[in-house]
Amino acid sequence: MQRIKTFLIAVALTAAAAPAYAAGGHALTYKFEPDSNNIQSAQRGARNFMNYCSGCHSMKHLRYGRLGQDLGIPEDLLKANLMFTSDKPGDHIVSSMPKEEAAKWFGQTPPDLTVETRMRGADWVYNFLMTFYVDSAKHSGVNNLTLPGASMPHVLMDLQGVQVKVEEKAEGHGEEGHGGGHHAGPKFELVQPGKLSPEEYKKFVTDTVNFMHYAAEPGRNARIALGYKVILFLLLFTILAYLMKKEWWKDVH
Ligand code: HEC
Repeated sequence: MQRIKTFLIAVALTAAAAPAYAAGGHALTYKFEPDSNNIQSAQRGARNFMNYCSGCHSMKHLRYGRLGQDLGIPEDLLKANLMFTSDKPGDHIVSSMPKEEAAKWFGQTPPDLTVETRMRGADWVYNFLMTFYVDSAKHSGVNNLTLPGASMPHVLMDLQGVQVKVEEKAEGHGEEGHGGGHHAGPKFELVQPGKLSPEEYKKFVTDTVNFMHYAAEPGRNARIALGYKVILFLLLFTILAYLMKKEWWKDVH
């Protein structure tokens, strides 16, 4: 009995702790909602991911072929534009980077990102990619507000440009290049523009995270569509069952 009690308390505590962990312990700077119905965005995101991320990060639970099928990318385009580590669509998306070397270079092996958005939240990943800033105290020259001390270099710096963190001022808002809802907190100032405008960079990150959101559960759209059908069926079946009950019981009274 005692054991069961301890177990139940442990389960309750774990459940209570989970959201706090997922939120990263502090409020995120930008709000973000992934869009699983925007296939074009996920397609662009797949291209972004393969070009800018897959050199270091794998998505080893996803196959190229599945990705092509789900996102409507024909095999020849898939091979020409997205498949850098293999030419077999049945292969998993692995990174070409040797693990031991990566650990030496970055102090840490870049983690597999297949289910990253489910682990951290899509909004967390969006914030992570938006909040790199110059920090001369760091050996790589940049730091990250969402994951302080991150050992990942700002690989998108030539796209985003260079931003610095401005000390938080009480109720300062409406700053240029900030857009979309954000909470009070540290703000960023672009000191050197990148190849993309702030709006374009936001779109680039949105596409990338939409793709990662797809990859974390490739069957999501099918699951939701099936769910609606099942509920519709149950509703119709309830009506039928009710009519049948009325018919069967009509002579009893
Ligand atoms: C040059 C190698 C490299 C490239 C390219 C790279 N990353 Fe990383 N990334 C890393 C390393 C190393 C870490 C581990 C950072 C840490 O935990 O300190 C990391 C961590 C992350 C994390 C946080 C993982 C976690 O939950 O702690 C995310 C998310 C991420 N990368 C996304 C991306 C995306 C998206 C791209 C492409 C736009 C990308 N990375 C490109 C090296 C890279």
